[in-house]
Amino acid sequence: MKAGFVQFEPLFGEVDKNLKRVEALIEKADADLLVLPELFNTGYLFTSKHEVIDLSEEVPEGKTTQMLCRMAREKNLCLVGGLAERSGNKFFNSAVLVSPEGYVSTYRKVHLFFEETLWFDPGDKGFEVYDIGECRLGIMICFDWIFPESMRVLSLKGADIICHSSNLVLPFCQDAMITRCLENRVFAVTANRTGTEKRKDKSLHYTGKSQIVASNADLLYRAGGDTEEIGIADIDVEAARNKKLNDYNDLFKDRRPEFYDDLVKTVSAKGERRMAKG
Ligand code: ACM
Repeated sequence: MKAGFVQFEPLFGEVDKNLKRVEALIEKADADLLVLPELFNTGYLFTSKHEVIDLSEEVPEGKTTQMLCRMAREKNLCLVGGLAERSGNKFFNSAVLVSPEGYVSTYRKVHLFFEETLWFDPGDKGFEVYDIGECRLGIMICFDWIFPESMRVLSLKGADIICHSSNLVLPFCQDAMITRCLENRVFAVTANRTGTEKRKDKSLHYTGKSQIVASNADLLYRAGGDTEEIGIADIDVEAARNKKLNDYNDLFKDRRPEFYDDLVKTVSAKGERRMAKG
């Protein structure tokens, strides 16, 4: 199958313009799956809760999800794209998955970054895997990458391709994702944005370099740092289902979860670990 990303520079608060731009880019693409950046319709650098309330949308009723559903139907592909989701009185930094048949599901960012913690509620649905026929997809958003557990859980749940909607500002993720793919033997599409957002006294620069990484850690495509770009690569889904490294090692079968208890112990806000009794 052909999977890829759309990299561009969203304009803060200009939802209609951003949707039009993305529509034109998707129109040009020949792919079965495309990933769009985090918060691609609104921009990233919110400076108040009011802005989040104004720009967030209900899913799937909102115009962003509706536009994605229309494009997925017209182009016969699946799309994953980030948006600010309103659900009752909660607000999530989310990514929706749509297919040619319509809306499929929503992932709500589990690990919020920096001032997102002021504006958004932490994701409350965990990490899910979706079977879209050609492959099984896992979704995560930007800063989720720095917690290896995100991609591990998705991979253990059977994801072949990780769709990684991003607005990256740190320089480490693109290289780290190569290791994430290697340790889980899955493909990953990181869709990043470009440009600098200046809002009030705040400024953030986004690193572009969206990429597609194979399950053997080959870098199949990496975009420029400041280009508007669509990147697409052929994905051999079966390769992600073979976790064997050699005749003696299978990356999943060789795991020793009986020694990994500490990974899932609850840690208090003070960093004190609750010890198991006995
Ligand atoms: C990020 O999570 N947008 C860095």
